[in-house]
Amino acid sequence: MMWVLRALCPMAVLPILMPAPAAAQASYDAAARIFRLDGGDVTYAFKVNATGILQSVYWGRRLPDRAPLAAPELSGLSGFDVAANVVPQEYAGQGGGLYAEPALKVTYADGNRDLVLYYRSHEVRGDEVRVTLSDLDRPLFVTLTYRIDRSTGVIARSAVIENRGATDVRVDQAAAAGYTLPVAYDYRLHYSTGRWAAEWTLQDRALTAGSTVLESRRGSTGSQNNPWFTITRGDTTEENGPAWIGALAWSGSWRMTFDQDVTGRIRVTGGYNPFDFAYRLRPGARLETPTFFTGFSDRGRGGASRLFHRFQREHVLPHHGGDLPPLRKVLYNSWEATEFKVDEAGQLALAERAAKLGVERFVMDDGWFGQRNSDKAGLGDWTVNPAKFPRGLTPLIDRVKALGMDFGLWVEPEMINADSDLYRAHPDWVMGFKERPRTEGRNQLVLNLARTDVRDHVLAVLDKLVSENDIAFLKWDYNRNWSEPGWPDADVADQQTIYVAYVRNLYWIIDELRKRHPGLEIESCSGGGGRVDLGIMARTDQVWPSDNTDPFDRMLIQDGFTQAYAPAAMMAWVTDSPNWVNRRQTTLSFRFLSAMQGGLGIGTNLNKWGDTEMATARYYVASYKRVRETVQRGDLYRLNRANAADQRWTNLYVAADRSQAALFTLVGSTNKLDVMPTINLRGLDPDAQYRIEAMDGTALPATVPARASGAYWMNHGVDVTLRGDFQGMGMILTRVR
Ligand code: DGJ
Repeated sequence: MMWVLRALCPMAVLPILMPAPAAAQASYDAAARIFRLDGGDVTYAFKVNATGILQSVYWGRRLPDRAPLAAPELSGLSGFDVAANVVPQEYAGQGGGLYAEPALKVTYADGNRDLVLYYRSHEVRGDEVRVTLSDLDRPLFVTLTYRIDRSTGVIARSAVIENRGATDVRVDQAAAAGYTLPVAYDYRLHYSTGRWAAEWTLQDRALTAGSTVLESRRGSTGSQNNPWFTITRGDTTEENGPAWIGALAWSGSWRMTFDQDVTGRIRVTGGYNPFDFAYRLRPGARLETPTFFTGFSDRGRGGASRLFHRFQREHVLPHHGGDLPPLRKVLYNSWEATEFKVDEAGQLALAERAAKLGVERFVMDDGWFGQRNSDKAGLGDWTVNPAKFPRGLTPLIDRVKALGMDFGLWVEPEMINADSDLYRAHPDWVMGFKERPRTEGRNQLVLNLARTDVRDHVLAVLDKLVSENDIAFLKWDYNRNWSEPGWPDADVADQQTIYVAYVRNLYWIIDELRKRHPGLEIESCSGGGGRVDLGIMARTDQVWPSDNTDPFDRMLIQDGFTQAYAPAAMMAWVTDSPNWVNRRQTTLSFRFLSAMQGGLGIGTNLNKWGDTEMATARYYVASYKRVRETVQRGDLYRLNRANAADQRWTNLYVAADRSQAALFTLVGSTNKLDVMPTINLRGLDPDAQYRIEAMDGTALPATVPARASGAYWMNHGVDVTLRGDFQGMGMILTRVR
């Protein structure tokens, strides 16, 4: 089963900062019937209650080994709220009078829709617990898997539902897991909302009686909500107090619900979205859910983010044989410069200039294939356009490589334009209902990847492209959501399994492609940040958070993104000013300081840059290369997060071994003669000496000493006052031996 994305190896990649973790353990106390998982600074416990129901006991800061973990036996509150609603169930079946959110809801062929899941057996091995439940009298089995990561305490939970009966069962709703937080009335839910070019808008709301639903009904992850949350208490701050964080590893329609139940507990349930969902389980068949990852930190939202970032670096993002994911190369992308007007000469001219800046990867975006002169045609025809590249791609790739860069190419393999040879040959490969119109988005239709012939075709095309050309990187785009999600060739009772089969086949294609081309790196892009989740991140090396490349909007976008996801995967480009999205004008320095906080890319029209811009850019690219390991593999401290009144961000990245820190402070606007607040750094070695310098090579203000101890930088802090609109400063602190 896909519970974790990469094998959970014992930690040890960051030996200096992290104390050796206490041995992780999963255990079962047979007398109390309590399961306990410990990892990092986290304990998670649940029990089999007196009636045989699996009940949540504890999820929070690590408890002493022999701490009493007794949990009360709960019964109904009144005739209106029977036990099913009062017992915080680990995995609730829809039945037995449950009104709270179920984890699993089924319908039997005879019409029975009552499901009550009882504990049957378990297995405890290493860091993992498996518990098997089944219905009170029907042979429907659910195996829950819990695994805890020994260094971060991140828990991975998923479920496998199995029909061991003789007749079909329809699964109407299936979650990966349910989590419970104790009774309290000051919980807050943090999550993100968005839309194209405006992803990752942070929301913060009280969790009170009633439900909050985060979801995508779109067939893919979506940016309207991202499958991530953090829950805090009223007194939690950025760096202190409890924070529970979670994310689903699924790139299809998903749902998370947050309910305060009748007792005041918070129940979190997440998995497949029940919207339009129906999954027939024939006798003997199984359905595996996505994995729901969760973490806990008592170091506030910052601590929870850092924990998740580290987990993603160590266990989610592809490692390509190393201890950690390879560092992101500085890339150039042609999209904003040329859009669909690509040809060999134009791309070569851009490549020559990109190489002069220190760019390491040249990516040709949309427009190189089929009859792709606009977004109206060509998708599906993944052969080089002979008018634009009469000699094929090889001469361009060879020159790019001679210039010291590797070559990347844009593809959008799941999509098709009606005006394409592929559509003319296979109109039936498209998702839709028979004899019904199909809604187009960006003039394109979605290929039904759930079909094995379509799946195999997509793999074959990509395999050929990568085999025949020296391609190091694919930017894998996906520019619309589903509509009319029909699969007319399948049996009617199986048609809605498209929600599962499509995504599983997508994962299969990427996995197979990577297996055949082990060095190949991939970016997940969905018109920006429409497909960012732990499922796709396990298979792709980087993600594109937004098509919005305005550096000021980006600070908000990146702040939202990094609440859950690692800067190691977050690409950010320097593009033209004024920016195409909002016409905002910014300096080149400001654009670099914003984009250097993830994987740096340049997406501007380099032909328009004069010597001054080229020299500035070359300097920043060199500075970025000095700090990128710290940015991508270090700890991110959000020292000052922007709000409406104070458009100022100060982000600090501290290297795993504390030998370096990269400090970025940016403002949207300054007023009067206001002096900016002192910046108190975090995470440095208090006893070590650190030298400080500006990233652009200019002198720092006289208020900043050239060198001081970690304790000085953290306690006295750095005083830098910026003046004007869209100003920023980057600083590098280097530990002096
Ligand atoms: C949407 C992406 O987000 C852009 O970066 C670009 O690749 C276009 N698609 C190309 O069509």
